[in-house]
Amino acid sequence: MIRLSGIGKTFPGAELSLRGTKLVTQGPALWVRNLARAVRLTASPGAPVRALEDVTLNIAAGEVFGILGPNGSGKTTLVKIMAGLLRPTEGAGAVAGVEMNHPQAIRRRVSYVSTTGWMGLEWALTAEENIRFFGLLSGMSGALAKTRTDEALRDVGLMQDRHKAVSELSNGMRQRVILARALLLRTPVVLLDEPTVGLDPIHRDQVLALVRETLPARGQTVIVVDHQADALETIVDRAAILAGGRLLRAGTPAELVSGLEGVRVLEMVTRGSGEPRAAIPPQVQEVERIERPGPLGLTQWRLTVADRSDALEAALHWVLSGGGQAVQVAERAPRLADVVTGRLRREVSR
Ligand SMILES: Nc1ncnc2c1ncn2[C@@H]1O[C@H](COP(=O)(O)OP(=O)(O)OP(=O)(O)O)[C@@H](O)[C@H]1O
Ligand SMILES: [Mg+2]
Repeated sequence: MIRLSGIGKTFPGAELSLRGTKLVTQGPALWVRNLARAVRLTASPGAPVRALEDVTLNIAAGEVFGILGPNGSGKTTLVKIMAGLLRPTEGAGAVAGVEMNHPQAIRRRVSYVSTTGWMGLEWALTAEENIRFFGLLSGMSGALAKTRTDEALRDVGLMQDRHKAVSELSNGMRQRVILARALLLRTPVVLLDEPTVGLDPIHRDQVLALVRETLPARGQTVIVVDHQADALETIVDRAAILAGGRLLRAGTPAELVSGLEGVRVLEMVTRGSGEPRAAIPPQVQEVERIERPGPLGLTQWRLTVADRSDALEAALHWVLSGGGQAVQVAERAPRLADVVTGRLRREVSR
């Protein structure tokens, strides 16, 4: 359904967009008779931003595909390229059978939802009217627009609030209006950029179920971007991990976690911990340490340790050699989130 080959994207630096701009102010700056002052600011030239580099990816029809990675890793840029909203600077590809150099035709075959901005909601109209009018504007008959609108409102849990004007809705509700509107057209591809950000747990689960069940059941291919690897892990068929604009790895959650066979994750909270004094034991592979500010002096630890009977004790001993007290200790199997953070740390330290 989506084929990308060697995709790259470079945004021009500030120099291009600000070239020729002069910011000039004139007039009195203080109460001083006959004062005149002109200020000229010249934009400092910025280097171009390499947002994506050599991304090659195939997404099959009907797949639910996740895109993971830290802030600025290129997730939104990649999804916008798939939506026909940005042109790649290098590479080739096709979306829903349309080559990348026909972005207008791509845009007719995808539904794109971003949670940043309100994407053209009509403030004075109700949630229901916003969605239905979008259907009518897209050329649907009145009857079809009505049926689809009701379905979409139900899909995102907005039936109760359908008659409220957008100006009267909460942010999470507005976000679900945007999502519902995008569900109306039943395009072959649905692109969702962080659809659950800012939603309460009940509506987050409802949106995740929509992505996992409802959209694939309608034959739609879904690409979903999220920071929360834990949430994505349960709903995607496959996922890609991006870092610094590069595709680090793609595969099923099980494949992505397979690199971590033979390890366990130890999560601890300690009180009054200093820097561990003992040497780090060989069974400990990765350490993440977060100081929790506050009067309790808590430190949160996440350690990846070898799956051996002596490893947990060695790790505990090492952490507590800093003089702290264990408040909470839990041990578990590695999850996709551990792969994303662990892999990123290795890439960054390379
Ligand atoms: N229009 C633009 N002009 C210049 N640089 C841009 C533009 N859009 C994105 N970038 C840069 O491209 C890189 C990738 O940005 P992108 O928005 O794709 O990241 P992201 O993975 O979606 O991040 P986040 O998790 O914060 O949403 C960043 O360095 C960003 O500053
Ligand atoms: Mg983004």
